[in-house]
Order: sequence, then structure tokens, then C-alpha cells
Amino acid sequence: MLKMTRLNSNTRRVCFTDICNLRFVICNLRALGFKLPITNHKLQIPMSEPKSFHMSTEEFRRQGHAVVDWIADYHSRIEGFPVLSRAQPGEIRSKLPPNAPEQGEAFDQILGDIERVILPGITHWQSPNFYAYFPANASGPAILGDLLSSGLGVQGMLWSTSPACTELETHVLDWLVPMLGLPQKFLSTSGTGGGVIQDTASSASLCALLAARERATQLASNRKGCDGRLVAYCSTQTHSSIEKAMKIAGMGSDNLRQIEVDENFAMRPEALARQIETDIKAGLIPCFVCATVGTTSSNAIDPVREIARICRDHKLWLHVDSAMSGTAALCPEFRFIHDGVEFADSYCFNPHKWMFTNFDCNVFYVADRKHLIQTLSVLPEYLRNQATESGAVIDYRDWHIQLGRRFRSLKLWFVIRHYGIEGLQYHIREHVRLAQQFAGWVRDDSRFELAAPAQLNLVCFRLRAPDRADQDHANQLMMERLNGSGDLYLTHTKLDGKFTLRFCVGQTNTQTRHVERAWQRIQEETGMLGNS
Ligand SMILES: Cc1ncc(COP(=O)(O)O)c(C=O)c1O
Repeated sequence: MLKMTRLNSNTRRVCFTDICNLRFVICNLRALGFKLPITNHKLQIPMSEPKSFHMSTEEFRRQGHAVVDWIADYHSRIEGFPVLSRAQPGEIRSKLPPNAPEQGEAFDQILGDIERVILPGITHWQSPNFYAYFPANASGPAILGDLLSSGLGVQGMLWSTSPACTELETHVLDWLVPMLGLPQKFLSTSGTGGGVIQDTASSASLCALLAARERATQLASNRKGCDGRLVAYCSTQTHSSIEKAMKIAGMGSDNLRQIEVDENFAMRPEALARQIETDIKAGLIPCFVCATVGTTSSNAIDPVREIARICRDHKLWLHVDSAMSGTAALCPEFRFIHDGVEFADSYCFNPHKWMFTNFDCNVFYVADRKHLIQTLSVLPEYLRNQATESGAVIDYRDWHIQLGRRFRSLKLWFVIRHYGIEGLQYHIREHVRLAQQFAGWVRDDSRFELAAPAQLNLVCFRLRAPDRADQDHANQLMMERLNGSGDLYLTHTKLDGKFTLRFCVGQTNTQTRHVERAWQRIQEETGMLGNS
């Protein structure tokens, strides 16, 4: 019997199984030779599909094209926007409805709100006039790789949950070892080492610290917790993520020794050795040193080789954080930055900073994966599978904090294949050349001083002034005026206690004309400061 539900005077809803049954009957009658002149439609039975709110494939295709068009247009008009967003606190939220919509909205309307609501609250990291912090640059192939990753929607926690996700990652990270001139021991094929993509350098350094903690205590701190005796070392210039890692690892930020630096802001190895001896005498257990290749404030390069020797003498884990500057090693002439990395237990750099691979993508290598895996591995029944048991595969879930993981290697693979090593080298060299040119202009202008050696693509500089307070004030004012103008965006740090401007060239599309214009704007503001 066909069940019909009365909805209103004109409409009757027929359930899906009834329609299927009716179709079956009609087909059978036709097969038996009955002529049935009227179609289901003419029977006026609405052929309702199962209820769905999903976007249809056709609409997805149409809107997907619209979104890609929007992104392409955004990139072509990006120089017209003030680089630093001018939104006031709360301004973006005030344009949003207080509650979520009860009924779904048209996609055109949603995309329209990107332009109307979201864009005014965007700081344009992809503007060629972005010189702030360290870059988080992106590129066409990376964006498309990321889109494909979303399209495939893979969760690659285990080899078996998508073999390609694991194997492409292992392979691309093996490619990067010779591309950056890194030691062979980081290769997955080395027998002991290997690489994994993490979200950020902060996570990679935390994993390195955890592995060091467990190596030093033969996995006892994993079971029983820390007893407050483990000590770690970095410099006063090391990124704050190491202090955060100490807190998360349960080792305590008081047990992080921030070693003094030399006149170039690089760690003093003799001070490190002294501090380690002091701690050992005090009954503490040194276990980890973080050396930085390209510190955040000034791009200083710690003397990794000498630090490594001290680590070897005391059996300490040496982690090298090369978050931004690691990318420079794509060019053989810049590989001096990695001198001594062959002695590191772990190493990381961020393709999401300077290697045209959009956020997030950190590459993390270990010399001996056993320590990392033993530290982080927990195997509940529901994750057991034959491939894992066979021992023939990598399960990256054991190589980082979280379980689930995105297919991040796709975007890295796309970038490397699109540019080729030659293309990557070309653009990195250009960025370094432009930064060096900028540093030369600063050096040649007696109103300014360089605040640190400009070795690669970061220039730290400031206006000179006879009085220290005036100097800080003038530099801060200049930065605020430049950023407020929307013409460029640069940020500051303190070096030797002095307010210092940082100018980092690393955005994908920054060219000579942009850097020339930035210098011109700096000079204009300097002139106006002088007159004010
Ligand atoms: C040297 C260094 N290490 C670590 C980090 C943290 O990076 P992430 O955001 O990937 O955690 C930064 C960020 O700029 C950095 O400069």
C-alpha cells in the first residue's frame, strides 16, 4: 500500500521506499507488455529525493570556481589594501549577526561577506609590502595543494588510513635533506632517522624536548612524571616556544637556562659549558640544548658546531631550530648557516615561513626516531592494524602530539615540483639580495644605524639619536606612522635594550620596486619626524 501523508491541500508526500516500490511495479508491468502511457510525473507523485542540506556537486563546482577566482582577484589587487588591518577591536564582530542562521544561506551571500566583513579585518600577509615578524608566505601551487588536501579530506594518522599521505610525506622530506644539504642521518632510509611534518616549530621543539627528557630518564618521566631535576638550555635570544615547551613538558620554566649571547646575539658556548658544569655539581640533570639558526629578534646564528661538542661531552640532546632561516640552505652559498648540524639530534625549519608553502607546515627531522616514537607511542586496541603489526610502515601518529593529521605534504610537493630547486633558489637569492641592498642604504645614511649583522633577509636598524629615550620614542613613532599609512608593515624588537626596527624580506612577491618604495617611505617619515 502506498502511504501518503497529507501536508496541505495540494501537496502529498510519498516516502522514498514507496516510490521505489511503485517504480518496481511499473517496470514489471511494462516488462509484461502492458502499455503505460503516463509517467510517474504524470501520476503527480513528487519524486522526492532523500532530504539533504548538502551542497550539490554541481554547486560545489560552480562555487569552487568562484572562490578560486576570488582568491586570484584578491592577489592581483592586494597592493591596494593597507597592509596592516585598520580594524578596531570588536569591529569585525559587530558586523556579524548575534546568532547563527536558522536556515542555510546562499553561498553567493556568504562569499560576499568575505569582501564586506572579513577583508577589512585582514592584515595582508601576502602583500609584497609585508616586512613584519618573519613571513608566512604562500604561493599558487601551495594553495592548490592545500585545496586538494581538503578535497581528499584524508586523515592520515596511520599508514593504513591513507598510505599515500604517509608515503608522500616521507618521500618529500627525504627530498629536502639533500636540497638543504642536511646530514644523511635525517633520511628515512638511513636506518635510524627520518622526518615528519608538524604544524609549527613550537610543536616540533616540544617533541624534541620530550624525546630528550625520556632519553635522559630512560622513559621514567613518561611513567612517573618529572622530579624537578631535569635542566634545558637555550640562549637569551631563543624563541619563546622553548620556554612554553618547558612548561608543557612538566620540566618547569625555572629549569630553562637562558645562556648569554655575544655582540652578534649568538649563544656563547663557553657560557653554556660553564652553566652545565654548575648544574651537574648542583645535582641537576642537564638533558637538552636548543641552538637557533636565525633567531627571531635579529637572525643571529648560534655556533652549532661548538655547542654540539659540548652536548656530545655531556650526552645532551641537541635540537636545532632553523624556523625561518633554514630555507636559505636551499642555496649552497648560504649553507654556512648549518655548520655543525650534522651533530644535531633533531632539526626543524618552517616551509610555511619562507619557502612559499602556506601555513601550516613545519619540517622536523630526528637522527634516531626510536627516542621520539618510544616517547610518544601509545597503542590502544582501536588503532591496531595489520600494517602496523608488520613493522613495514611508518605511523606518523607516534611522531607528534596529536593523533589526527592533515595531508600537508601535498602542498609541499606541489611547491617543490612547481618551482624546482632552481626556482626556489632564484627567489630566495632575490630576497637576500633585496635585504642586503636595504642594509646598504641604511649603512650609507648617517641618520641610521644597523643594530645587528644582516646576514640573510632580515635587517635590524634604527634611527640614531643622542638621547636613548628620544631614540626609542623616535623609532617607535616612525614605525607607527609607517604602519598606520598602510604602505608597508614592519615590526620591532629590542636589541641591547634599544627599540629596534626589523625589516624582513620574504614575501613571495616582494620585488625591487617594493623595497625601494619602502626605503623612500622610511626616509619621508624620517624627514617628517625631524620637522615635528
Ligand atoms: C626561531 C623561531 N623558532 C620558532 C618560532 C615559532 O614558530 P611557529 O609559529 O612555527 O611555532 C619562530 C617564529 O617566528 C621563530 O622565529
